[in-house]
Amino acid sequence: MITLGIESTAHTFGVGVVVDGEVVVNQKSMYRPEKGGIHPGEASEHHYANAVNTLKNALSSANIEKEEIDSIAFSQGPGIPQCLQIGATTARSLSQTLDIPLVGVNHCLAHIEIGKKETGVKDPVTLYVAGGNSQVIGAAGGRYRVFGETLDIAIGNAIDKVARKIGIPHPGGPELEKLAEKGEKFIELPYVVKGMDFSYSGLVTKVQRELKNHKKEDICYSFQEHAFAMLVEATERAMAHTGKKEVLITGGVAANQRLNQMMETMAHERGAISVKSPLKYCMDNGAMIAYTGQKMLKKGVNTQFKDSGIRPGWRTEQVDVPWL
Ligand code: ATP
Ligand code: FE2
Repeated sequence: MITLGIESTAHTFGVGVVVDGEVVVNQKSMYRPEKGGIHPGEASEHHYANAVNTLKNALSSANIEKEEIDSIAFSQGPGIPQCLQIGATTARSLSQTLDIPLVGVNHCLAHIEIGKKETGVKDPVTLYVAGGNSQVIGAAGGRYRVFGETLDIAIGNAIDKVARKIGIPHPGGPELEKLAEKGEKFIELPYVVKGMDFSYSGLVTKVQRELKNHKKEDICYSFQEHAFAMLVEATERAMAHTGKKEVLITGGVAANQRLNQMMETMAHERGAISVKSPLKYCMDNGAMIAYTGQKMLKKGVNTQFKDSGIRPGWRTEQVDVPWL
């Protein structure tokens, strides 16, 4: 079975091709804001301008004609409505033109499914940490449940806000991590965990204020230590609650070495393991959509045309998961 997958929830327009459960192509075009965060109108213009070329490149790299595709998967949500619309329109038109099944995939679940495939973990507590999402997710009772999540902004967004204040261009994570490695002094900052939920807005405001009083390396170091400790604590609670013995970290912030190190220490102390999804699948991509879509189709799940509109606020626990 050949499945084409389309991703367009935020800054990335991605197209992946999966043949019988294996990724053969993962093409993408990324919108990069000149300054500040993602501008929805600009991002969707970018997707509109690059959709056809990205598709054509994916098909030629996979060495297939469009008539050979058996099914179309697309990221139906959650995400920025204007961006989602471009992927959905492309997928719906292709499905109708080629007269093949369509399946709407939940973006967060796709990160988990491809991460499980690539790392070999079977039943993890997943920490999905990105620019727009921060969730602690695990399978329970035939569904993926969100055990904990941010009460305000996502960790990636928090990192980018601090980075912007320091003068680091978007996305600020990688450079902030380098500065943090040079930090020596631990500065006490707000730490907010409520049950398995966590909050970043107070921490970000305090960090932005404290910048004038400390070396930026020390601020970055202390900011990371606090922000990541909250994620590790919430993940550990979810493990204690469910008895799960594996952690999967995914999303753009999974690139951070210190976060992985802290999670590994916690997991090790519990006799568990912590693994990171390959970076290409931590970032938004079409391959994970094609892979998850094909898994769904094999279980008889598809999306009728009338149900294939975008779902910007689609929650992880609303998804039926018959393949668990
Ligand atoms: P979502 O997946 O929620 O739609 P997104 O697409 O904006 O969000 P990603 O592209 O997955 O997010 O990740 C981007 C985020 O990851 C940015 O906030 C960026 O600063 C952060 N990031 C990237 N590398 C690192 C790093 N080494 N350390 C910390 N954060 C990082
Ligand atoms: Fe993502």
